[in-house]
Formats: sequence, C-alpha cells, structure tokens
Amino acid sequence: MNAVIRPLRSSRPQGPLVGAVRVPGDKSISHRALMFGALAVGETRIYGLLEGEDVLCTAAAMRALGAEISQGADGVWRVAGRGVGGLIEPGNVLDMGNSGTAARLLAGIIATHDIFAVMTGDGSLRTRPMKRVTDPLAQSGARFWSREGGRLPLAIKGARDPLPIEYELPVASAQVKSAILLAGLNAPGETLVREPAATRDHSENMLRHFGAVVDVERVGLGRVIRLQGQPELRAADVRVPADPSSAAFPMVAALLVPGSRIVLEHVGLNELRTGLFTCLREMGALIEVVSPRLEGGEEVGDLVVTAGVLRAVDVPAERAPSMIDEYPVLAVAAACAEGVSRFRGLHELRVKESDRLSATAALLAANGVKVEIEGDDLIVHGVAGGPPGGGLVATHMDHRLAMSALVLGLGSQRPVAVDDGSFIETSFPGFVALMNGLGAAIS
Ligand code: S3P
Repeated sequence: MNAVIRPLRSSRPQGPLVGAVRVPGDKSISHRALMFGALAVGETRIYGLLEGEDVLCTAAAMRALGAEISQGADGVWRVAGRGVGGLIEPGNVLDMGNSGTAARLLAGIIATHDIFAVMTGDGSLRTRPMKRVTDPLAQSGARFWSREGGRLPLAIKGARDPLPIEYELPVASAQVKSAILLAGLNAPGETLVREPAATRDHSENMLRHFGAVVDVERVGLGRVIRLQGQPELRAADVRVPADPSSAAFPMVAALLVPGSRIVLEHVGLNELRTGLFTCLREMGALIEVVSPRLEGGEEVGDLVVTAGVLRAVDVPAERAPSMIDEYPVLAVAAACAEGVSRFRGLHELRVKESDRLSATAALLAANGVKVEIEGDDLIVHGVAGGPPGGGLVATHMDHRLAMSALVLGLGSQRPVAVDDGSFIETSFPGFVALMNGLGAAIS
C-alpha cells in the first residue's frame, strides 16, 4: 500500500466553492461495524462503509479471523459473523496498515480468544504506542510480546479462560476504551471502564445496536461504562454517516474561499465528535445544521457552510477529545483568521499518525505563519486575508496533515505543496476529485 508517492499542490481558486457533497463514511464507525458484524450471529449489512485503506485492513483482518465479508455490486457490505468467542486463529501476520484504531481494537478482540496472532503495520503505525492497550488487556489473561516501547510488530496469545477487566483510563482515548470493551465481550461477568473525559461513544452505541447490555453513567466530565460479558450479539444493519472528521476539510476550505457556500450531506453529528464545529462557530463561521435526524443510535444532519471572516479562538483542553483529529485543519483556519489563537492541552497529538503537534506547527511555519508550541499548547498567529504560502509540507505518512496543507493552499497567497498525498487514501478516497468538484484547485 502507498507504494507510489503522490506529490500534490493547491492554490487559490478563481471563484467560490459551491455545491452539495457527501464525504466518505465515518472511519471509526466503519471499523466497528466490520468488527461487531464479525462477532455477531447472522448477516450484518453495512451501508456507506468507508472504503479507505484503513478500513480495508480491518476487513482483511476480520476475514483472516474467520468472518465472511463481501462487498456487493450494490455497494452494500455483508458480514457473516462467527458469534462472540468464535473467531479462529489467523494463518499469517495481520497487516493493519496505517491504522491505530484497527490495531488497538483488534488487540482487544484477540485478547479474549484462545488464539495466537501477530500484528504489524506501516512505518507510521510501527512507531505508535501499544502499551496503552496491552497493559490493561493483560488483566484478561492475554500475553503480549512487542518491540521496545510496546511497538508493533506485536504478538498476542489470547486468554484461554478470559477474565473481565476493570480499568481507569490514564488518557482520554476511545481506542483504549473500545479495546477493553471488545475484550469484555468474551469474558464472563462485568467489564468496567472509567474514562476521565468523555470520548467518542460509537462502540457503546453499536454494542447496544447489536444487542449487548451497556450501562453508561456520567461522572463529572467523565463516564463509567459497564458491559455485561458474553452476550449473544445479533447481526444488525448499520448505516454509516459521513465522517465529520473528513467533512472538516471541505468545511474549512469553504470558510476560507470568499463567496463560497457548500452543503455537506448526512454528516455524523455525535456530540463527542463535533468540537471543531463549536470552535469554528466561536471564530464567527456560519455553519447551519439542516434536518437533524437519528440513525442507528447516531445523530446525523446536513451542514450548510458559508464563507466569512474568521477571528482567533482559544480552545480549552477539555474540548480535545471531541475534536482530537481536527487540530491540523483548525490550525489552518486559525492561520487565516484575525488575531492569535491558542489550542490548549494537545499532548495526545504527539502520538497520532505522526507527531501532529510539531508537524502542524511545521506545516504552518513552512508557509509563513508564525507559530509557537508552549508546553502542550499550540499558538497560531493568524494572517487575515491569507498567509504567504509557497511552502512544501512534509506529511510524515499522515493523511490529515496532507489534507490540511492542501486546504491551506486554497486560502494562501501562493500555492502550497505536499511531499506525498498518497496517505489521503487511508481515510478520504476521492478527496482531490471531491474538492475540485466544489471548485478547488488541487493537482
Ligand atoms: C478513534 C479514536 C481517536 C482518534 C482516531 C479514531 C476511534 O484516537 O484519534 O482517529 O475510532 O476510536 P484515541 O482514542 O487514541 O484518541
């Protein structure tokens, strides 16, 4: 995968961005739909699955673990599950590509199956910390062997007689929470996770959708989640909303290009994902929600985004879990806004697909924007009317850095180039065509 390097560049378009588009399906929900479908009894149908490389890695891994997964000519994915505890030992190493979510959630599933599995990934994933999941998962009786620092490749011997886990998350991470809940599916009794701050709850919503008993109690800013082990998960249809983390790119682009007005259809509006929209509105952005509705336990709606003048924002650390993937593109909006923005408490950005804190600062600096990192805070000095641009951005195998840089080019005085846009395929296949269809200039 990503064998071919794809340099890209973007520049100010001649006219405004206009049109109505649906960005690809939600990545978090797509991974989970395949995994829960594989653990359910019967056939799960998935509508609107993200067919990006990250999710295709999950599909391949679940097949290797014994699920039957096919993509119909109608675009609907069908998963014939093996039931909780029914997965089989894979005959080869599982390649999780670029995806931390796939690797960590799958580690949870394997931990409570009496099988041996080895997992690896690409150059980015092999640098990312796995101890955050293997430490709690070891409570189930599973054993793990990894490279120094808990990095992939990772070998797992799942527990023969799994125990339920009780764990307080040291960092707000939906991936760690979900890994523990997935392990809890095949352990007797109650699995309990305490999170210090609420993180995306797609696993909890989907577990209920498949028939599991999940109890969620709010405690201050955080939550306590209890799962009753060894449920019989029943196959269920899943309709995947458009990914708010992908909608973020055309959204910020439309805000920056004067005169633009676009509609983003069927976007997931789970309140634990929409911190970016809150920030942009605080900056003065006009983002209207049209016809909000509930689908499969998740809120969705159409968003109408209209260009306008943006001013600086001060983003509190508590908001980070609800917009953890959106800081690079918010930094781009801040670079084009009036005044100095501050984003607080970004330590978790250092362990994403790249060290996104330094890489976002470097992305802006390369294009003439003054930026500072103070502790875990990012400070961006906006240039109303658009920064100079003209830089070449190093994307470090990180799809969101690549797309953020290309959005910056649409609002900058000179074009912005990226060294490699091939990783955009992990989460947003068709990004360049979709953006250019709205009127962007990316080539
Ligand atoms: C995800 C959770 C987040 C996010 C990632 C997807 C998920 O990671 O950055 O892109 O699907 O659970 P953390 O939970 O590690 O913050």
